[in-house]
Amino acid sequence: MRIDIISIVPEILHSPFSNSMIKRAIDKGFIDIYVHDLRQYGLGKRKKIDDYPYGGGSGMVIRIEPVYRCFSKLFSERNYDEIIFMTPDGQIFSQEYAQSLTYKKNIIILCGRYKGIDQRIRDHLISKEISIGNYILSGGELAAAVLVEAVTRLFPGVIRNRDSILTDSFQEKTVIAPPVYTRPLVYKGWGVPEILLSGHHKKIKDWFYKKSMQLKKKLDS
Ligand code: ADE
Repeated sequence: MRIDIISIVPEILHSPFSNSMIKRAIDKGFIDIYVHDLRQYGLGKRKKIDDYPYGGGSGMVIRIEPVYRCFSKLFSERNYDEIIFMTPDGQIFSQEYAQSLTYKKNIIILCGRYKGIDQRIRDHLISKEISIGNYILSGGELAAAVLVEAVTRLFPGVIRNRDSILTDSFQEKTVIAPPVYTRPLVYKGWGVPEILLSGHHKKIKDWFYKKSMQLKKKLDS
């Protein structure tokens, strides 16, 4: 899978992609990530990318030309299956959507900044608008990193313990992962539920299931 991310502050994305799980996925050839600096497609000598909003109001708006130029260059090189715009008023990101993206070959992620982007970009060039939650970030970069991380870890071989993915909360829509414990057995007087030490597999399985259901009920209420 190839992911092209377009941003005005590409530096924000260097760290998340050069460490741990995502780096392993890149090194193993599961994904290719290219971060593009929108400013390189800016207008004139000063590489202008934004302007005042028509009709007035505060803040600057990202112009359509730099985005169109950047997209055109990418489109001339390959076809894209999805062109995602990260925005707080998009569809809420979900495990289901992350899973669906693993079947795509090439995707573009456009990160917003400032007051917003010219609506014509959204109307004519974007195929999906995604929000990572009902709160406002300064830009779409961290949201894009969240999306990429959630998608990347779903590729077989990226996470060493595949079983751990399958038991993650939300992987199955109805299941919330139960609480887990490890050593020490007691820390500052706080112990581990005895059932987990019983060696009784059936009872342990039932206990995990019961805990999952309790958590799900709590989340739903
Ligand atoms: N850009 C700013 N806030 C965002 C959010 N919550 N999700 C996606 N992109 C964003």
